[in-house]
Amino acid sequence: MRYPEELIEEIRQRNDIVDVISGYVKLQKKGSSYFGLCPFHNEKSPSFSVSPGKQMYYCFGCGEGGNVFTFLMRYENDTFQEAVKALADKAGVKLPELEYSEEEKKNNEIKSTILRANKDAAMYFYHQLRSEQGAQGYGYFKSRGLRDETIVKFGLGYSPKYSDSLYRYLKHKGYSDDVLKETGLFKYREQGVYDAFWNRVMYPIMDNGNRVIGFGGRVLGDEKPKYINSPETRVFDKSRNLYGLNFARISRRKNFILCEGYMDVIALHQAGFDNAVAALGTAFTHQHAALIKRYTENVLVTFDSDGAGVKAALRAIPILRNAGIAVRVINMRPYKDPDEFIKNLGNDEFEKRIQDAENAFIYEIRMMQSDYEIRNPDERARFYEKVAEKLLTFNDEVERNIYIETVCDEFMIPKDTMNKLVYRQSLVYTGEKENTGEQLPKKQNNAERAEDGMKRSQRILLTWLIEDTDIYGKIKELISEEDFIDGFYKKVAKMLFEQLEEGNVNPARILNSFESEDEQKEAAALFHATLGEKMTAQEKEKAFNETIRRVKKNSLEYASRNATDVATLQKIIREQAKMQNMYISLS
Ligand code: CTP
Ligand code: MN
Repeated sequence: MRYPEELIEEIRQRNDIVDVISGYVKLQKKGSSYFGLCPFHNEKSPSFSVSPGKQMYYCFGCGEGGNVFTFLMRYENDTFQEAVKALADKAGVKLPELEYSEEEKKNNEIKSTILRANKDAAMYFYHQLRSEQGAQGYGYFKSRGLRDETIVKFGLGYSPKYSDSLYRYLKHKGYSDDVLKETGLFKYREQGVYDAFWNRVMYPIMDNGNRVIGFGGRVLGDEKPKYINSPETRVFDKSRNLYGLNFARISRRKNFILCEGYMDVIALHQAGFDNAVAALGTAFTHQHAALIKRYTENVLVTFDSDGAGVKAALRAIPILRNAGIAVRVINMRPYKDPDEFIKNLGNDEFEKRIQDAENAFIYEIRMMQSDYEIRNPDERARFYEKVAEKLLTFNDEVERNIYIETVCDEFMIPKDTMNKLVYRQSLVYTGEKENTGEQLPKKQNNAERAEDGMKRSQRILLTWLIEDTDIYGKIKELISEEDFIDGFYKKVAKMLFEQLEEGNVNPARILNSFESEDEQKEAAALFHATLGEKMTAQEKEKAFNETIRRVKKNSLEYASRNATDVATLQKIIREQAKMQNMYISLS
């Protein structure tokens, strides 16, 4: 289901990037580019640049970048197709009806049948809860303080004690085993088919369109496992859904409350906190964070206060922060989770705890501190090192300095000591891309470092070719797209070489062919980098030759590792020898 490439390119060309972005950001011309305050991160002085020549934007502060399509995808949370459509409308280009392939049609059909079966299952559980045999389930919800309207709102239900009652019900409704197998609601065994959920209270999981995509089920007593959840299916992608999001997305509150469990979400909603969501039956991922970022940039975390909860919170916080979300942590002591808290202390008290929620970075450091015996000088030194390491995860210097101040005040660390430590560590810190927030910068082993070095030379060469297209003539006999081993760079190289061959370099067009935001962003960074402005012509020439040699050397080594016949190997050796004497003059 795609629009033809030519059409996408036409739409892109008819929408000048300066025009489009000016509708959102105040831009000022400086040299050949325009600058403004970046809409994707907080800043006081403009580092967001828009290049009419390249028809691309790039923020030197936060690394966001892309073409007109990327901009709308990021700014309006559009999908690629939606961005194409919006800009087509703006430019008065008529889009053809999208054609679905047979396979897509089939897949869509199966999906909608699964959704229908899920909905019927949810209705079945819902009615069971109100039947005689469901009285225990109903009693359970009541004992946990749920009001009837809450039970209705969340569509809660009950799965009966028989091991195949849902199966018989859905079969009777005419669903085929092919479909039922794919719902994840049944276990197909040699002896027969069994319901995956029985004698449990049921929590249907809904997507943003209030369609039932899966279920959670809880035992009524203390048996194990306490909860079971539907497996992932064609319609249930656990890392792209959050429990409660269908309600939270239309909440009037300005932030989201992220908690751990079904009952936490339900209890919070019942208490009027209709902005609560939870990631269920799976760890919190960066896809979850990206999903939240569509609705809010402020998240309050209330995970359980036990060991597992703290651990989960410490995992989720950097992921959220890395998505550009400001995170605070709600203190629920002396209670275990928001459900218990509200039951004991009530809404007003919870509202107060929200006001007092702690900055998540300070929370992380505080948790870290508890691993050290601070009065012991050795341990204290180690703790300081850890703090410095963590502070380095802030790329933005202004932000980092503010955090150095705050952390030093909060934990009574001498500021000049911390400044020195941060500076010293920044010299060995691998920086940029490694800092994805999921973990702290780690020491690389040799293989990883070689891999990075290899990619770096490929990236530099591409940037160089875009910056100075005349160079192409000098290298085209030597280097081809095949010399780019990294898959992403190979794709860029292929398109770029074609454009260079035609004498018509068009980076924004190359971006069209990447539909994922991550790849568009990476390509934009590639095209906006500048090389060696401070280098002398001589240094530049030397660096250039080194880059070419490194790219070629890597590619030949790679080829020789994969060569299977003697003739190929001999050819590689000849080329390797040729490289020894290669020197390209740039003047
Ligand atoms: N969970 C799960 N499987 C388990 C235990 C927990 O999938 N065996 C998930 C559930 O989504 C649960 C969440 O992790 O809601 C948090 O677990 P826990 O704190 O044990 O559950 P609570 O929500 O506190 O459950 P309850 O209040 O019903 O005891
Ligand atoms: Mn809990």
